[in-house]
Amino acid sequence: MGLRDDVAKVLIPEKALQARVAELAREINAIYTDEDRPLLVCVLKGAFMFLADLTRYLEIRHEIDFMEISSYGKGTVSSGVVRILLDLAQSIEGRHVLIVEDIIDSGRTLDYITRNLHTRQPASLRVCTLLSKPARREIDIPVDLVGFDIPDEFVVGYGLDFAEEYRNLPFIGVLKEEAYQSSEGQV
Ligand code: PRP
Repeated sequence: MGLRDDVAKVLIPEKALQARVAELAREINAIYTDEDRPLLVCVLKGAFMFLADLTRYLEIRHEIDFMEISSYGKGTVSSGVVRILLDLAQSIEGRHVLIVEDIIDSGRTLDYITRNLHTRQPASLRVCTLLSKPARREIDIPVDLVGFDIPDEFVVGYGLDFAEEYRNLPFIGVLKEEAYQSSEGQV
């Protein structure tokens, strides 16, 4: 049995994902100039694949850096606990910063990151997320660019995991019940 056998349905197929990521890149190309030289802050681990594709579609000069924030256990529900596991390698004072996220759920992670990065005095701070679940929002944070609004289903693939697996799937999918049950002990 492979990873794909655990998928009940494909919510966003690979082609639709790639087309939307290219569109988002065009929007980012239009927001910034080469002189702005924005810093794309990829929020690990989930956004690694989105960032990797997004950066290849960008035409403006830019840099990338990484932060890792932990807010979830191995289960499907946010613990609400947020902490920095890996911080940026550089100062962002006076820089144009674009946060690149895979998904905004409750909004707690993004609320924490934006408040934290604001204290470092960037020239501007914007947010680009591939996915958003508006139905689950607890903290309403302005988001500049959203790839897809999705229903309140636990999704995996294209960087998103369940118990650290399924990140490599090239589409966004929903798991079968059995896939959760077999890992119940880890939740
Ligand atoms: C996910 C996702 C966001 C956050 C969104 O990260 O990448 O950072 O949860 O949830 P929220 O809006 O309720 O805060 P996760 O903690 O699963 O880590 P990962 O990206 O390393 O898988």
